[in-house]
Order: sequence, then structure tokens, then C-alpha cells
Amino acid sequence: MRHFLSAHDVSDLNQLIQVALQYKAHPLKDQQLGKGKRLGLIFLNPSLRTRISTQIAAENLGISSMVFNVGGEGWQWEFEDGAVMNGQSAEHIKDAAPVLGQYFDMLAFRTFPTLTEKAKDYSEFAMKQFVKYSRLPVISLESATLHPLQSLADLITITETNSIQKKPKIVLTWAPHIKALPQCVANSFAQWVNKWNQADFVITHPKGYELDEQFTHGAAIEYDQDKALEGADYVYVKNWSSYQDYGKVLCKDDSWKMDQNKWSLTNQAKIMHCLPVRRNVELSDEMLDVEHSLVTQQAGNRVWAAQAVMSEILQSMKS
Ligand code: CP
Repeated sequence: MRHFLSAHDVSDLNQLIQVALQYKAHPLKDQQLGKGKRLGLIFLNPSLRTRISTQIAAENLGISSMVFNVGGEGWQWEFEDGAVMNGQSAEHIKDAAPVLGQYFDMLAFRTFPTLTEKAKDYSEFAMKQFVKYSRLPVISLESATLHPLQSLADLITITETNSIQKKPKIVLTWAPHIKALPQCVANSFAQWVNKWNQADFVITHPKGYELDEQFTHGAAIEYDQDKALEGADYVYVKNWSSYQDYGKVLCKDDSWKMDQNKWSLTNQAKIMHCLPVRRNVELSDEMLDVEHSLVTQQAGNRVWAAQAVMSEILQSMKS
């Protein structure tokens, strides 16, 4: 593995999940693997889980890590080649990324979509420019369209909690929100579950919230949320803004909120969310503060996901 930007960078998902679970059982077993290596975590956007879990994972592998919040601490970056930089941006990615390439052995980068420039967001323009100019292995800490470390942690969580014999029924349900949010987590979860191919996978959302088919292909799309939830073993709750009417909030219908009544339709489903969550907007308190909520476990598993990915990259740097 040279980069970790999407499910496409992983040849065997189950093998990577098992590597992560081994780290969960024995966090310090490879403490020499990253000795002498430096990881730079570069954030254009805020984070709690991604930032801290990736740093802990690095420490477990003996890697020293540094965080740089470009937005809050550094010069604003320009990403367009050939730009006349007479606006707010003081430093070009073409200059900043190679400098980071001099300081670190591996980089991790978070950027969010514009939610106004669909073609640019879906070309992963900022992430590609970062990869191109840094010339180092790059781990996505969330990009314009995907959040692969989150999705890996989600599959680790499903793997370790799935006690049923048959394929689990996993439902990704849209939920209301007051703001326009990226499609990243939903796209990524769909991409990973489809590639995993070990679940009956249903996506439910109001009309107008269809995700990009390159990620959802393989899943059943059901516009009736109650019907989708019937017999579900896992319910992943997430808001996203419209992909078709790009970045728009088309619906705030509170009846899509996951609550006890909705849950009663499921097979005592485990509830998942990537966090942060707007309580009692996306889903009710009672869905989060109960035994069948996996949200804290998912966030905890972010450490093992990041550790598994970094160990794979370190191994490939050796060969
Ligand atoms: N789920 C997730 O990526 O959380 P943060 O934005 O806090 O990193």
C-alpha cells in the first residue's frame, strides 16, 4: 500500500480488518516498526477523533507525529496551478507540500468539499494536488468525497460485533440536519460495504438525496425508510446534502430522525454514527445512550484502523 485514499487502495479488506483487530488486542506489538519515522498530520478542517486516534496509532508504532492546522495556524493555501495569487491565499500547494515532503516520511491530509463546485470536489482536486506535490505516501484523513479511515473503523466494528450466522442486514439511512454536510461518510461507507460484499446492504433517503452511483452500486436503494429498516441488524445514521442538486438541503423532515419507534422495526439493530452528531436532530438521545449504540466503539476503533493502515504503508516503504 503506497497511499490510503479509498477502498481501492486495499487489496483484501478482511485481511486489513484482522490486522486492525490484532492491534486492538496487542497495541504495542510493532513498536519498533515505525521507529525513526515522522508523520505529518495536515488539517484544513476541524477534527477530534481523526486527529487524536491517528496520533495514538502512530505512537503505538513508534512513529513520531506532528499536527499542523493549516486553517488556524498557517498560511492559506492555493491549489490551482497557474493561479495569480493576488487574493487571500499566501502559499501555493506546489511550494508547501514539497516542504512537508522534506520534513516527514509519511503525510496525512484532511480537506472538505466546497459543496459548490461538484466537478472539482468529485475529482478530488485538493487531495490529488497534495499527493502530487508532496511525493510521499499520503493517508486520507477525509477528503472531498470519502472518509476511508472512518469506513475501515466501521467495518472493524461490524466484524467484531456481528454475532449472527447469516449475512447481516446493514441499512444506511439519511437523517435530518440543520446544515449542508458533505456526502463523504455516506459515499465511503457505501464504497466499503459494497467492496466487502458480506452484507445485505440497503440505502434509504428521501428523493433527491441519491448518492453517486460509483459508490452505491451494489446496494439496494429504498425510499421508504420504514420498509428499509425492517429486520435491519445494523443501522448507520448519517446526514448528507444533495449530490444531484449539489450541496443543497432539500429536506429537513423530522420524521426521518432515528428514534425508538423506528428502531422497533429492526432486528434490535445496532446503531452506528461516525460522530460528531446533532443529538435529537439526526437521532434521538435514546438511540445513543443505550447498549445497542456502537458510536463510541466506532470512534475507539479509529485507532486500530489508522494503525493497520500505517503498518501496511511502513511495510511497503521497506520493500
Ligand atoms: N468521525 C470523524 O472523522 O470525527 P472528527 O471530524 O472529529 O475527526
